[in-house]
Amino acid sequence: KKTYTICCLPGDGIGPEIMAEGKKVLAAVGARFGVDFSCDDALIGGAAIDACGDPLPAATLEAARASDAVLLAAVGGPKWDATEPGAPRPEQGLLGIRKELGLYTNLRPVQVFAPLAGASTLRPEVIDGVDMMIVRELTGGLYFGRRERFYNEEGAGANGTSGQRAYDTLEYREFEVERIARQAFEAARKRRGRVASVDKANVLETSRMWREVVHRVHDAEYADIELEDVLVDNAAMQLISRPAEFDVVVTENMFGDILSDEAAQLTGSLGMLASASLGDGVALYEPSHGSAPDIAGRGIANPLAQILSVEMMLRCSFNMDDAADAVRAAVVAVLDDGLRTGDIVDGKTPRDKVLGTDAMGTAVAQRI
Ligand code: NAD
Ligand code: IPM
Ligand code: MN
Repeated sequence: KKTYTICCLPGDGIGPEIMAEGKKVLAAVGARFGVDFSCDDALIGGAAIDACGDPLPAATLEAARASDAVLLAAVGGPKWDATEPGAPRPEQGLLGIRKELGLYTNLRPVQVFAPLAGASTLRPEVIDGVDMMIVRELTGGLYFGRRERFYNEEGAGANGTSGQRAYDTLEYREFEVERIARQAFEAARKRRGRVASVDKANVLETSRMWREVVHRVHDAEYADIELEDVLVDNAAMQLISRPAEFDVVVTENMFGDILSDEAAQLTGSLGMLASASLGDGVALYEPSHGSAPDIAGRGIANPLAQILSVEMMLRCSFNMDDAADAVRAAVVAVLDDGLRTGDIVDGKTPRDKVLGTDAMGTAVAQRI
């Protein structure tokens, strides 16, 4: 029997709650398709800070490197937000593992499941047919630039008094833009053949380089793909005015972070948006949302983004397309049966169809 080792990183907030449902679905897939998934938990984020003072312990990185794939839930929370300058933050664990594993491509598929057309805050005719892939650069830009904060600098306060100054730098190297552009064009070839490259080339030097490099890669290797440039502010608007017209959207790290949360709302909830973080070695799968401190510990979080991230793992890391299809079909069946978590209800959802995290995960697992 084939065995896959999965390094599980539950993290913080709703993380452990949704991770349990991801594992439940993996167990169901294993049983049906005759493979073993060996899931071992490791510490990351706030949980790791509490246990050993380090948001990304060396043992976690080692376990991740030795695994066939990494499944992450979410990190962060108010508990670790208000600490003294320089104190470790949960998010450093996530950024650290992305960087260490070289996960420069983050794929965030935005699809509207037909039964959820009424769950979005946008009109059904606007979201009808939405099916886009956000390709977010994940290991460069502002997230990994130089940064510094000065607490007492002359002239930084009002009226020439001393005060604080801080900066973050936004840098990209040509090869980083080239490789993410290729990922976007490759994705487009398997889809509807269109790429929208989102930048701020009217203001930022990095964006002007981004645009030039994307076009060079396009003209040399992907002339069959239809490429358009969209300025990021306009893209934010078009994402909600004509979302169905986007196919692949490629953009730098920070723009991709913001636009993907916006796009998630097309699907009804951030709790529906899965993602895959890919590099040249072991890959990591993570919902696009965070640790949802406002609902953590109540057993009501939507586990579907986590479960759909498992689907992406089966497809991208294990080449188990049949199993991935089965997970997707099970999610569709659950939604077709009218079952919902609190974040994706609409005015017509009867109370007895509103499930908690555990019951939703079980409903999906039973249909595999
Ligand atoms: P968030 O994504 O955690 O939550 C935003 C809103 O969406 C909240 O109202 C939350 O209840 C809701 N939501 C998110 N996921 C949901 C789910 N599965 N089911 C139902 N509702 C869901 O963003 P935030 O509140 O801005 O950030 C909270 C913490 O999470 C911060 O510490 C942040 O750094 C961290 N964060 C972590 C990740 C990650 O680990 N990948 C991603 C984003 C934010
Ligand atoms: C995400 C999150 C992370 C990011 C944070 C928690 C560092 O918002 O995965 O989208 O900004 O990349
Ligand atoms: Mn985000």
